[in-house]
Amino acid sequence: MNEEVFQMEHLSSRHALDHGHSKPALLAVIGCPVAHSASPAMHQPALDFCAIQARYIKLEVPVGRLAEALQKLSALGFHGANITVPHKLAALDACHDVDAAAQQIGAVNTVRFIDGEIHGWNTDGPGFSSAIRDEFQTTLEGKRVMIVGAGGGAGQAIATQCAMENVSWLVLVNRTLDKIMRLRDVLCKRHPDLRCECIKLDDEQIAGVAHQCQMLVNTSSLGLRPDDDSPISINCFDEHQMVYDTIYKPPMTAFLRHALMKKASVSNGFSMLLHQGVLAFDIWYPGSAPLEIMRRGLGTTR
Ligand code: ATR
Repeated sequence: MNEEVFQMEHLSSRHALDHGHSKPALLAVIGCPVAHSASPAMHQPALDFCAIQARYIKLEVPVGRLAEALQKLSALGFHGANITVPHKLAALDACHDVDAAAQQIGAVNTVRFIDGEIHGWNTDGPGFSSAIRDEFQTTLEGKRVMIVGAGGGAGQAIATQCAMENVSWLVLVNRTLDKIMRLRDVLCKRHPDLRCECIKLDDEQIAGVAHQCQMLVNTSSLGLRPDDDSPISINCFDEHQMVYDTIYKPPMTAFLRHALMKKASVSNGFSMLLHQGVLAFDIWYPGSAPLEIMRRGLGTTR
């Protein structure tokens, strides 16, 4: 796997991007930092499998320069790009046209360049939905879902997806209450039938509410460090729940350990990472994403 990280100055010419390589760079993951991204490990094998003569590169773009980078990629003939932290909100403004889910989520994580225009999508929410189908063989519709740490980008994408797929009850939990109250207001305005509640992370009622939910999802960043505690106590979990952690590195968090100890069904965020990538590939090359090739490619990064 090519670990090279490209910078803005490499977008000055095709030569700067491609010399020493047999295939042209036509896709990229854009972030800052971006060196750690697992996306090339999933997309390059998919391109090779589909015999698409293209390289998928990592491109580091500083905050404030995303629109300029996208315009340059478009002019260079790139097919598309994935957008990651911290550019997902800026990407929404940089696009000529944005699909309905991305509009609702308020962020773009996938772009495609078509006839000099930039088109944007968000595959995080739909990728979560596919991951739930893959891991638990069920859909979000009609479920009672608790999202823990819903104040960040992942929480917003997943909460929006839950509302779009008609969950029967959505419980947003966060350390900072006003962030999720704003999110609830936006969701309820768009989905007047949505039953949605906000609970502060340290509220003592949280365990009782959690036991009324069929699905608990961690979208907080707590768990990214191996010694992080779980955002909610072990008393919140039981054997009837499906428990999903959006974190995939490390693969086993304290949140999932608690759930496993209470015999819940569990999954980490590997499947969401995979499915958001599969959906992005299908946007660039409709109907051709090789799921198992991408799963295997991503597996090499674990
Ligand atoms: P973003 O996705 O926008 O980068 P983030 O800073 O990574 O956001 O935080 C994502 C979520 O993790 C937020 O809901 C955050 O809670 P706050 O809104 O209260 O900041 C939550 N979070 C981060 N660290 C946490 C911690 N130590 N305890 C509990 N929740 C935490």
